[in-house]
Amino acid sequence: MDLLTCCVVGTRPEAIKMAPVIMELRKECGVHPYVLATGQHAEMLRQSLSFFQILPDADLAIMKDRQSLDYITASVLSGVGEVLDKVRPDLVLVHGDTSTTFASALAAFYRRIPVGHVEAGLRSGNLYLPFPEEANRLLADRISTLLFAPTEWAKDNLLAEGYDAFKIWVTGNTVIDALLWGIERVKSPSLPELKQIPESDRILLLTAHRRESWGEPLYAICRALRQILAEESGLWAVIPVHKNPAVREIMAKELYGVSKVILCEPLDYPDFIWAMKRSTLILSDSGGIQEEATAIKKPVLVLREVTERPEALNNGTAILVGHDTEKIVEESLRLLRSNEAYEELVERSGYPFGTGDAAKKIVAAIKEAAQKGYLRDVLGGGIK
Ligand code: UD1
Ligand code: UDP
Repeated sequence: MDLLTCCVVGTRPEAIKMAPVIMELRKECGVHPYVLATGQHAEMLRQSLSFFQILPDADLAIMKDRQSLDYITASVLSGVGEVLDKVRPDLVLVHGDTSTTFASALAAFYRRIPVGHVEAGLRSGNLYLPFPEEANRLLADRISTLLFAPTEWAKDNLLAEGYDAFKIWVTGNTVIDALLWGIERVKSPSLPELKQIPESDRILLLTAHRRESWGEPLYAICRALRQILAEESGLWAVIPVHKNPAVREIMAKELYGVSKVILCEPLDYPDFIWAMKRSTLILSDSGGIQEEATAIKKPVLVLREVTERPEALNNGTAILVGHDTEKIVEESLRLLRSNEAYEELVERSGYPFGTGDAAKKIVAAIKEAAQKGYLRDVLGGGIK
C-alpha cells in the first residue's frame, strides 16, 4: 500500500485538530501526508502549525481582511482544485466545519477523489446555528467516503441520516491527542503579561469569535465580564482576542484599560493550554474549547444558544449560558463562589471526547478502508 493523503487545513482549529493525524501519517508506513494549507487564516494558522513543527507542502494564502464567505469558498474551491490536479492524492482529509472544510471536500468530490471527514456527524439541529458551520459540516459529510465520528452520539446522527455504518468509525476527537501532546511541552507561559499574575489570584479565560456573537451579543459578554470583575476580588480576565476585526473592535472599545483585564493577541497553543489549566473558569463560544475544557476538567460557560457538542453538557464541564449578561454573571459568580457547585460540575464530567488515540484510530481506519477497496473511484475503478 502506498497512499498519498492530502490533509487540508485552513484555520487555527483545523491546524490543531489535524496536526495529530499528520504526525501519525508521518510515522506510519504506506500512508504519506501531503499538507495543503488554504491560508483561510494567516498568522493564526502558521502559529498553530509551527507548534507541531508542520510546514505545509503548499499554501494558497487566500486570506484577506474581512473576507466574505463567497470569497473564501470560491478561492478555496479553485485553489485546492488546482493543487489536487497536480498532486493527485489517493485521499483528501478535511476537518470540522469551516468554509475551507466544505470547499476542499467539494474540490476533491469534483475530481472523484475520496474524502475523509475528521470530526464528522456533529449536529446542532439548526442549519443556521452556528452559521455557516452547521451547513458546512452537513455538506462535507454528504460528499465524504470515510466518516470519522468523534463520539457515539455523532455516529448515531449519521446513522439517523441514512449513512452506511461501514463508512463510519468512532475515533474520539483529535483535539484530545493535540492537547495531551501539548500539555507535556508546556512549562511556564512565554507571554510576560501572563507571568505577572500573582499566584494567589484566580484567572477567568475568555474567548469569543463566532458570527452569532458579533455586535450586541459581544457587548453583552463584555458588560458581563466587567460586572464579574467588579464583584470578585483577586480575579483576572485573560482575553486572547481573535484576529477578526469584527471581534477586535468591540473588545478593544469595551475592555481596553479595565483593571485586571489582559487583552492580548491570540496565544500560541502552549500558552493557551497553560491559561486553560491555570484558569478557574472559562467563558467561550468556541467549539474546540468545550472539548478541551472537559478533558482537563475546567468549567466552561458556553456563550451560545445551542451546541453541537452535547456531550460537553451531559458528560463534561460545560454549561450553556447564551449571550444574556445577567445569566453569564449569575452562572459565573455561582461557580466562582461555591466550592460545592464547582466540584459538582467537575465530578460529573468524564472523557466523552476520548483519551488521546483518535489519530491512531483514524490512520488505522484509512488503511482498513484502502484494503477493503473503499477508496476506489466508484465510477472509474481507480483514480490514478
Ligand atoms: C473561521 C471559521 C469558523 C472557525 C474560526 C476559528 C468559517 C466561515 N469560519 O472564522 O468556523 O470557528 O475560523 O477561529 O470558516 N484574520 C486575520 N488573521 C488571521 C485570521 C483571521 O487577520 O490569522 C481576520 C481577517 O480579517 C479575516 C477575518 O479575521 O478576514 C475573518 O477570518 P475568517 O476565517 O473568515 O473567519 P473566522 O471568524 O476566523
Ligand atoms: N486556541 C489557541 N489560542 C488562543 C485561543 C484558542 O491556541 O488564543 C486554541 C484552542 O485551544 C482550541 C482552538 O484554538 O484548540 C479553538 O479554536 P477557535 O476557538 O478559534 O475555533 P473553534 O473551535 O470554535 O472552531
